[in-house]
Amino acid sequence: MTKEEILAKIESLRANAVGALDSLDSLHSLQEYKVQFLGKSGALTEILKSLGGLHPEDRPVVGQAANRVKAEIESKLVSLQETISLKEQQKQTEAKQVDISLPGFSFAHGFRHPLRIVEEEIESIFLKLGFSIYEGPDIESDYYNFEALNFPPDHPAREMQDTFYIGGMASHSPASPSLGPAKPDPRSHKPVALPLLLRTHTSPVQIRAMEKNKPPLYMICPGAVYRHDDDVTHSPMFHQVEGLMVDTKITFGDLKGVLTLFCQTIFGKKLKVRFRPSFFPFVEPGAEVDIACVLCNGKGCRVCGGDGWLEILGAGMVHPAVLENVKIDPKKFTGFAFGLGVERIAMLKYGIDDIRLFYQTDLRFLEQF
Ligand code: DAH
Repeated sequence: MTKEEILAKIESLRANAVGALDSLDSLHSLQEYKVQFLGKSGALTEILKSLGGLHPEDRPVVGQAANRVKAEIESKLVSLQETISLKEQQKQTEAKQVDISLPGFSFAHGFRHPLRIVEEEIESIFLKLGFSIYEGPDIESDYYNFEALNFPPDHPAREMQDTFYIGGMASHSPASPSLGPAKPDPRSHKPVALPLLLRTHTSPVQIRAMEKNKPPLYMICPGAVYRHDDDVTHSPMFHQVEGLMVDTKITFGDLKGVLTLFCQTIFGKKLKVRFRPSFFPFVEPGAEVDIACVLCNGKGCRVCGGDGWLEILGAGMVHPAVLENVKIDPKKFTGFAFGLGVERIAMLKYGIDDIRLFYQTDLRFLEQF
């Protein structure tokens, strides 16, 4: 090819390429265009390959003409690319735009479990009275669950508790001092092995709290407890709140005052409350607290078994032996303790007759609270 022929080809390629720019309307077509005209085997590159056949003097002229066309097309492409990508972005945002005339989405939202609601209500009553909240472990030693609470070994009161023992025994060792004091076995004189268990009540937390804190001590401890028991009103795992008030000059009058206030805050101001003598090894005297049946107002119905009263908590004056176990002088300090079942209160409050409903995670039940 002659120089003139190549220059003519370049000129016609320029005309073609500039003309084709108008039809570019997407980034994709822009890319194809680049390959077609400027790519490795594109039209312009093909023309430049034929430069080798020219007279050396002619090559620069033709080369410059080709480069001019290349630069012209490239600069046009740059501004075109900007315009096209702006348009594409606009299209995307338009597609994403919300139609505010459509009805909104409804999202399922979480809510508190009825047991948590009741537990929080109980906590807030005692927090207002100046009590603090304590926690203790679910896996306990025999020492904290029974012995320190004045349950002698082989005492029948232990049987009332339907204890779950955990396989094996935990030897007392410096590595597990939290299990309680080690006692040498009378025959071998080696530290005795302590049976581990799931706590049957939250009372062991009294002991843990009194070991760590000197009176005055006003505490409650909410938590899960475990017993070998399973029917419509008993579950193998349920929840209690333990309470303890130890100070100088605490009397049975304080116990009655605090617990009456508690019952009336939960179930209603005018509610009748009754204190009945009872036995728990860690208190003396011990009492059970009854409230007038919240369903029949004391007249007698199926729920209260006809006598008009419902037992809702256990309580008593902390036994001197318990205070001695935690090195608090019973001559200087006295206290009262109480324990209540959260499920029982929730069942009475909401009129629920099957304890298992709390654990079945049925949203139709849980959503009602
Ligand atoms: N721990 C007892 C139980 O689970 C409840 C109880 C009774 C706790 C009397 C107390 C108390 O602190 O004084 O059956």
